[in-house]
Amino acid sequence: MNLADLNKVALAMVTPGKGILAADESSGTIKKRFDAIKVESTEDNRRDYREMLFRSQEAMSKYISGVILYDETIWQNAKDGTPLVKLIEQAGAIPGIKVDEGTQALPACPGELVTVGLDRLAERLAKYYERGARFAKWRAVIDIGGGGTGGRGTGGPSIPTMTAIRVNAHALARYAALCQAAQIVPIVEPEVLMDGDHDIDRCYDVTQRVLNRTFQELRVQRVALEGMILKPNMAISGKKCPKQASVQEVAEKTVRLLKSCVPAAVPGIAFLSGGQSDEEATAHLDAMNKIGPLPWRLTFSYGRALQAAPQKAWSGKADNVAAGQRAFSHRARMNGLASTGTWDA
Ligand code: 13P
Repeated sequence: MNLADLNKVALAMVTPGKGILAADESSGTIKKRFDAIKVESTEDNRRDYREMLFRSQEAMSKYISGVILYDETIWQNAKDGTPLVKLIEQAGAIPGIKVDEGTQALPACPGELVTVGLDRLAERLAKYYERGARFAKWRAVIDIGGGGTGGRGTGGPSIPTMTAIRVNAHALARYAALCQAAQIVPIVEPEVLMDGDHDIDRCYDVTQRVLNRTFQELRVQRVALEGMILKPNMAISGKKCPKQASVQEVAEKTVRLLKSCVPAAVPGIAFLSGGQSDEEATAHLDAMNKIGPLPWRLTFSYGRALQAAPQKAWSGKADNVAAGQRAFSHRARMNGLASTGTWDA
């Protein structure tokens, strides 16, 4: 492992004014997104949609530092035969790859999940590196109250269990160590879901336990913190909580929480949007960066909060490509401003 090079890539991923486009929806998830805009999820449509994003010159060259791809996409070519990875590189952004293989039910922990995909990961990473990937992503899912991928809120206050937190942290650290050995920067993503009716303080407590355990495992497994990026959720009210915390409260509590458990050696933190509206995701990031000074750079690694608008504008029609690109560039610019605390509502 060359740590200086890993650190250089990690810092580039969190370049001030830029952030990460999470375009790594699995086949199941992208189908859900396409269903909402009445587009059939075929291989060609998925390619056309992502090609539209990656050819958004303004967004990609000015506001996007890197793109997380799904396995299908990293091997795909644009309509003119150019590999999609090359489009990303030509725009000056870094290609990345989602390497987890989704979640499975965690035995003996009803309603809880564990992320899988460690088998043969070393070989897969070597192939992705050859194709141009310089960073990777692995997402662990922690659900407050339980319910897994089915119904929610069945487990009550005992969920998440320490078992779920520990096994997911262990897998995240195994993945991160394998990435660094393959000269790939790991994005470590332990996501505490915002589904449910819990308040912001419960989210804070659970996220603190999850992050503390994650960094403990990273240390045990000798992951170099200078060569990774953390992708956490914010401290935020559950979607169904009757009392929704204000933008300022989310910003202050998230910064306090991260300061309490993320070592300063970590070069950057890139948040997931997790179901927040486009504008909320921008406002929260901006408010946090207005708090400063902070020990790490804070930016975005948004999926839905960057793509909902372009998906709607595009709606699967070639005639709408320019409109889709405008919508994407707008959200990317707003989040770019938020990454330096210079966005104004
Ligand atoms: P959202 O911003 O839609 O949460 O997606 C980010 C992501 O990569 C989740 O793993």
